Amino acid sequence: MTNYCITVKFHFDLLAPIYEILIPPVFPQEMLTLLGDLKGKKILEVGGGTGRLAQYLLKYSDEVWIMDPSLPMLYKAKKANRELKLIHGYAEKQPFPDEFFDLIIAVDSLHHWDHHEKGIQEVYRVLKSRGIFFIGEIHPKDKAGHFIVQMEKTLLMRSRFFMPSELLKILKENNFSIVDIGWLKKPTYFVKAVK
Ligand SMILES: C[S@@+](CC[C@H](N)C(=O)[O-])C[C@H]1O[C@@H](n2cnc3c(N)ncnc32)[C@H](O)[C@@H]1O
Repeated sequence: MTNYCITVKFHFDLLAPIYEILIPPVFPQEMLTLLGDLKGKKILEVGGGTGRLAQYLLKYSDEVWIMDPSLPMLYKAKKANRELKLIHGYAEKQPFPDEFFDLIIAVDSLHHWDHHEKGIQEVYRVLKSRGIFFIGEIHPKDKAGHFIVQMEKTLLMRSRFFMPSELLKILKENNFSIVDIGWLKKPTYFVKAVK
């Protein structure tokens, strides 16, 4: 991977011990409503970090994987729940066979990827046919979203935030069909796409 990924990895390696204190929680209950029945589904969270969402999903599915480039973040995830399946890796080069997962989730993660399009193509490859790709991203024009954009800029994270319309365009160009889009909870919007 490029230097950029190394920079991002460095930030999360440092943040890992205090990540869950610093960063507001994701919204598992809201997400669950949008995702529907998870029973029997093989799930991957790309950029799953400390596993705070993934461990919640484990209550509803027997097989939840997390892939993340930061080992300290994964270490926290392992401590949180030993049932989680952990993989060290990048969205852009996923160590899975074709058509492996029923559901892939990327919450607060995609704007950190080095090559977004390559990552999205990899998600498409490892998703089963009719599989769901669920994205949660910060809206850069929302008031709180704008603050996060500025904060990550100050921290030299080199994040790339997407307007919903930009993300929809990239997804469609890479063969996904859009199922739903809306607010998860401001400033985070979601996109649910199907292969
Ligand atoms: C803000 S955290 C979100 C973690 C988790 N999804 C959550 O909501 O708690 C972003 C995560 O994306 C990971 N990440 C950064 N670059 C990545 C890449 N290229 N591929 C996959 N994950 C990446 C980071 O290591 C970090 O754990």
